[in-house]
Amino acid sequence: MIKLSKRLQSVADLVDKESNVLADIGCDHALLDIYLLQSSKIKKAYACDITKGALNQAKINIKKYNIKSIITVLSDGFSNLKDEYNIDTVVISGMGSSKILEILCNKNNLNSIKTIIIQSNNNAKKVRKHLTKIGYFIEKDDIVKDHDLLYITTKYVFNQNKNSNFEINNIRKEVLKNPLYKEYINNIISKNNNIIRKLPAKQMLKKLKLIFNNYKLKRMINK
Ligand SMILES: C[S@@+](CC[C@H](N)C(=O)[O-])C[C@H]1O[C@@H](n2cnc3c(N)ncnc32)[C@H](O)[C@@H]1O
Repeated sequence: MIKLSKRLQSVADLVDKESNVLADIGCDHALLDIYLLQSSKIKKAYACDITKGALNQAKINIKKYNIKSIITVLSDGFSNLKDEYNIDTVVISGMGSSKILEILCNKNNLNSIKTIIIQSNNNAKKVRKHLTKIGYFIEKDDIVKDHDLLYITTKYVFNQNKNSNFEINNIRKEVLKNPLYKEYINNIISKNNNIIRKLPAKQMLKKLKLIFNNYKLKRMINK
């Protein structure tokens, strides 16, 4: 059984046991898909990537671990995936949130997919807003630290439940008290403070916005 990094393990842990067919968009090495098949969490995976180089690495790993049910697909986002593949679970991880949003927005009938798991390299507020607007519910957030970097992974399911504005704009309440989330927010506050210090006096409005944003962030984690 392969051992995943803490970051990828947090993605794998959010995949339902009763999932059938998974599409891993931007699979790169396909290690996640190999792990999910080895652990019988899924029955089949479409490992997709936009670059041939990444898919070649995926193919080497699939062969090495002798996994039969992974199909590699050269694809920009969902473009070469067909409805008849009956994909019920999608993972997009290890990309920036603008790229993830672009990929999600370019898919028609996205809501035929039951579960979407997202792990972006930066603030995913726009992704949270988009997916909840089209009918997905944020069922779980998780935060992990891997090689000194913090990652938030989110599981979205297509159902009738509704998240609060707080959950859509920030995080689910269960994670709010996690010390790693406090650290995550404190990192954002420090970055904002650096920008505030360097901004010239004429950019007063931008400065004030950042100061107010930091005030809201501090209140949120100290409540
Ligand atoms: C940093 S890797 C992340 C790999 C893996 N998902 C992970 O979390 O470890 C990002 C991968 O996404 C692929 N990628 C970027 N844009 C893409 C797109 N529009 N469609 C499919 N794959 C894409 C890249 O080629 C690269 O292999």
